[in-house]
Amino acid sequence: MAESFYVSTPIYYVNDVPHIGHAYTTLACDVISRYKRSRGFDVYFLTGTDEHGQKVETAAHANGEAPLELADRVVKRFQALWDKLNISHTDFIRTTQERHIHTVSEQFRTLEAKGDIYLGEYEDWYCTPCETFWTETQLLEGNCPDCGRLTTKLKEESYFFRMSKYQDQLLEHIEKNPDFIQPKSRRNEILSFVREGLRDLSISRTSFSWGIPVPGNEKHIIYVWFDALTNYISALGYPEDKDGLFEKFWPAIHVIGKDILRFHTVYWPTFLLAADLPLPRKIFAHGWWTVEGQKMSKSLRNVVEPNMLVDKYGVDAIRYFLLREVPFGLDGDFSHSSLISRINSDLANDLGNLLSRSTAMLGKYFDGIVPAPGKMDLLDQTFCARFPTAMEEIDLLYNDMAFNKILQHIWELIAAGNKYIDETAPWALAKDPAEHERLGTVLYNLLEAQRLIALQIAPFMPQTAEKILHLLGADPEAKLQDKDQWGQLTAGSHIEKAAPLFPRIDSSD
Ligand code: ME8
Repeated sequence: MAESFYVSTPIYYVNDVPHIGHAYTTLACDVISRYKRSRGFDVYFLTGTDEHGQKVETAAHANGEAPLELADRVVKRFQALWDKLNISHTDFIRTTQERHIHTVSEQFRTLEAKGDIYLGEYEDWYCTPCETFWTETQLLEGNCPDCGRLTTKLKEESYFFRMSKYQDQLLEHIEKNPDFIQPKSRRNEILSFVREGLRDLSISRTSFSWGIPVPGNEKHIIYVWFDALTNYISALGYPEDKDGLFEKFWPAIHVIGKDILRFHTVYWPTFLLAADLPLPRKIFAHGWWTVEGQKMSKSLRNVVEPNMLVDKYGVDAIRYFLLREVPFGLDGDFSHSSLISRINSDLANDLGNLLSRSTAMLGKYFDGIVPAPGKMDLLDQTFCARFPTAMEEIDLLYNDMAFNKILQHIWELIAAGNKYIDETAPWALAKDPAEHERLGTVLYNLLEAQRLIALQIAPFMPQTAEKILHLLGADPEAKLQDKDQWGQLTAGSHIEKAAPLFPRIDSSD
């Protein structure tokens, strides 16, 4: 039976429309999912929307809408964008769905029955935009230490989760599992946070009504993060698990932005420990995008709208750029000029030229018919040998979500292909009839290399990969783990000259 693999994005708030930040996380999960599928894994890829809480309630009322109306409207924007970006998710969860509400209520009941949830009284400073309570000492000049905005003092009856009880268990888990939180800098941040001590966590509110009521005490609404984090198991049908999905796929790898690290690496694992459930396999927090050097914000009117980018540059160019430009754990800056220069140099020049040069030569010297390869010279052997090695290295890099390094490796293969053309000089071989077989070997190797390159770029640029594989008459479904893959391109088949894969963009456009 195929090995299972579960990856999730955060569920996005519906009070905001999707921008490149949301697209970034979702794309990364899509790339991993596509790669794992190509390696034969049975993949569950979950995304969705976070629809409860004060923030959504306030945004809806400001629009003169009911919260669910707002959610129904905005969720369509997310779903349409994921279609447009070619996202291959297995499931889309909305926290207003019955399946989710059921799991959250059950989870609350279980922890309460165990004595890990109790009723108490809360008095602290609340930041509504972050939906987070802060103690007096955590505030920065009276404001939220995360976003710098105003906080308000709230005193209310509240249910608490005994988070403090799980402090040592969590610490031990983080210490024993160096890859549980990645990258390392984030792990260190959380280690020191947990070592400072965990307080019990307020997990209900009475100050607003848009959310899941506490079972048996309906004036309390379950805290939006207790609600939201549970999506990762409600989607699998926990606790009944009628379809066996929970048994098969849990635990997951959670991919998130660094802004929601603590919720995922402290709150969520302690909820799971209390419910006697296995902890996530990994939580990877990526960095933050700014735009042309500035924080993206509605008030600065600089929010980068992914739909517009896709219309202008094409879906694969955007998918490539976002994952190539910045190492996944670090912050990055989005600028149109760097996007255009990546498209021109990496896609139009390196990748596009290799394909058009090789298919043009095949047309010119062999009427477009793939020749059978003959004897391999040392130069050919060295070129071909790069492929299995690169593939092994790439496979390891996927464990660290080092997308930019993976793409660098693939582009080294592309560069090697272009260099192989220069070194073998097919135009010179073509002049000498005695070198006809050698010329055939060179062209075969070049085309075969591009079949393997296309399979490697497929998780990042599915449309482009399909175009290349289709042109080469190769199997787009070929699995990457096939040993000894070199040589699967069929001699005797006909290949057309490739049209440019990526037209060059004039930066003055
Ligand atoms: O936090 N750069 O939802 P959210 C990179 N509902 N990534 C960015 C980004 C940027 N500038 N802006 C947003 C929530 N993101 C909760 C999550 S999960 C159980 C609940 C991405 O709509 C990044 O993945 O505010 C970040 O973690 C997420 O959007 C926050 O989305």
